[in-house]
Amino acid sequence: MVTVTSAFPQDGEFRTLEEIHAAALERLPRDAAVYLESGAGTEQTLRANREAFTRWVIKPKPMTGVGDPKTNTEFLGISLSVPVLTAPFGGDALFARDGHLAVARANAATGIASIVPEVGSFSWEQVAEAAPSAARIAQLHPFDSFDASAERIKAAGYDALCVTVDCPIMGFRTRNRMERFRFDPVVWAGNVIHDCSPNVASTYGSKIVPAWTWDQLAEATARHQMPWIAKGILTPEVAEAAIGAGASAILVSNHGGRQIDPSPASLDMLPAIAAQVAGRVPVLLDSGLRTGGDVFLALALGASAVVIGRLAAYGLAAAGEHGVRRTVELLTEELHILMTLAGIPDIGSLTAAAVAPRP
Ligand SMILES: Cc1cc2nc3c(=O)[nH]c(=O)nc-3n(C[C@H](O)[C@H](O)[C@H](O)COP(=O)(O)O)c2cc1C
Repeated sequence: MVTVTSAFPQDGEFRTLEEIHAAALERLPRDAAVYLESGAGTEQTLRANREAFTRWVIKPKPMTGVGDPKTNTEFLGISLSVPVLTAPFGGDALFARDGHLAVARANAATGIASIVPEVGSFSWEQVAEAAPSAARIAQLHPFDSFDASAERIKAAGYDALCVTVDCPIMGFRTRNRMERFRFDPVVWAGNVIHDCSPNVASTYGSKIVPAWTWDQLAEATARHQMPWIAKGILTPEVAEAAIGAGASAILVSNHGGRQIDPSPASLDMLPAIAAQVAGRVPVLLDSGLRTGGDVFLALALGASAVVIGRLAAYGLAAAGEHGVRRTVELLTEELHILMTLAGIPDIGSLTAAAVAPRP
């Protein structure tokens, strides 16, 4: 466990992700920090997400001649300098005024892509305008507003949809409730200020909403002819249902421990889900990724790319666009070092052979 004592680097540059996390917590008001850090229930899922990464090791492989491994890859036709996307996280203006505009600009600078949220502080159109090369995937919920939202997303130039299937209602967020926070709802309303979507508003007010089925989602996505990611898959059976509904990719996720508690850690479920999917569609992973080593393990265990939620938000809170850019740079640097030490020349060569259960 690395402990950082001073949040703001003396030389004006963040050298580690721990420094960025510490700076974020130092800058955020208490209620915003709780909103960002907390999970559902007694936070067993939140803790399990981190513990899962400690059960694996990277196998050293010296003397392979690998000196400058290539970290770039492609996901759904989108080129990425490193297999990392930023997660859709709502309420982004709580962390920095420019929220997902800054995230997308940072992603454009580092060569990765944003998944832009439905309940963010800015609209899909505003984020696309701020950084069209990074704003490539738009997240939305399977609610009755789906058709209207998908039309807007397509018109704004996005390549793919990301449908969050694990949040028909918000999880029981214990620490949030205890904090009794009262944020201005406008921070979640970037997409609904002008054409009010009552279902989105009611979800985030924790009211019951009409929950969809896979059949309904299959019909809705077929109407719009865009590739789509099913976000929030935690079992092989549900991955199969998502593929049956036409999903173009599976995102193994427990919403960063913010929905069901207790639920399985995402990384623990990745090998079985990847085996079930068997290469038919790409598999992504989120929940608990905090280091370049975590990215390495996720890729080795079957993910084509990873999605970072809190890590990106820490960068945003610590130093806006610069903080997110540094976060991606540091993740890339650590991954590059580990690939060198493990003798992995490129992302395609990173397989389960590179890791082992911790002895
Ligand atoms: C502050 C915050 C807000 C979030 N809002 C959304 C959201 O609006 N839609 C969604 O699909 N996921 C949302 N998520 C979940 C993330 O997309 C992602 O699944 C999760 O953060 C991954 O775990 P990690 O934070 O450990 O990386 C949110 C997460 C956080 C931390």
